[in-house]
Amino acid sequence: MKKQTVIAPSILSADFADLGAEIRAIDKGGCDWIHFDVMDGSFVPPITIGDNVCKAIRPHTKLPIDVHLMVNHPDTQVEAFAKAGADYITVHQEACIHLERTLQYIRSLGVKAGVSLNPSTPVSTLKNVLHCTDLVLLMSVNPGYGGQSYIHAVTDKIREARTMLDDAGCDARLEVDGGVNVATMAEVAAAGADTFVAGSAVYGKPDYSAAIAELRALADGA
Ligand code: DX5
Ligand code: ZN
Repeated sequence: MKKQTVIAPSILSADFADLGAEIRAIDKGGCDWIHFDVMDGSFVPPITIGDNVCKAIRPHTKLPIDVHLMVNHPDTQVEAFAKAGADYITVHQEACIHLERTLQYIRSLGVKAGVSLNPSTPVSTLKNVLHCTDLVLLMSVNPGYGGQSYIHAVTDKIREARTMLDDAGCDARLEVDGGVNVATMAEVAAAGADTFVAGSAVYGKPDYSAAIAELRALADGA
């Protein structure tokens, strides 16, 4: 059965000097999750925000916080983010030597476990961890920066992942991150994604509520 659409604005494109207000604005604007991009200056070049910022924003919304760890050695961050109030913690397949163990570890802390794939990483790497995966996050740009263009070659990967999840009877959400906007949403949704990260397509617009509503209508209509 098709899951309900989740729109998850990425606070990477928010005004960091006014983060509490920026969180409250997208919550009021009708989004479903808060997407929280963590970068370590190693797995990807930039450094962004850590568990202390997650803890600071937690009182500003009751919506799920969707932590995307673009870091090497993600195991060292998991407990801190669980304590900071994360609802989902997603690690990169490329950064985990013992991916199954890491996903089980996240779940053991009462947090939903996600696994993310860079555009060049094949969907087949998910096959043996589906039993401990609550969320599959397909990157549709090379991670590190907001505002990049959607890589259309990823659309086939979304279809492939959709088929794999359905065939396995896996209930995990299928999330797509990078370059999702009004021009690409229909393509992404039609390929089988149910959860959509949008940074610049929400925070780059003057009216967050209208931007979220427009993205949702395109996803639901695909
Ligand atoms: C990129 C991040 C994304 C990014 C998306 O590395 O993981 O979440 O903020 O930004 P847009 O939607 O602008 O491509
Ligand atoms: Zn992200």
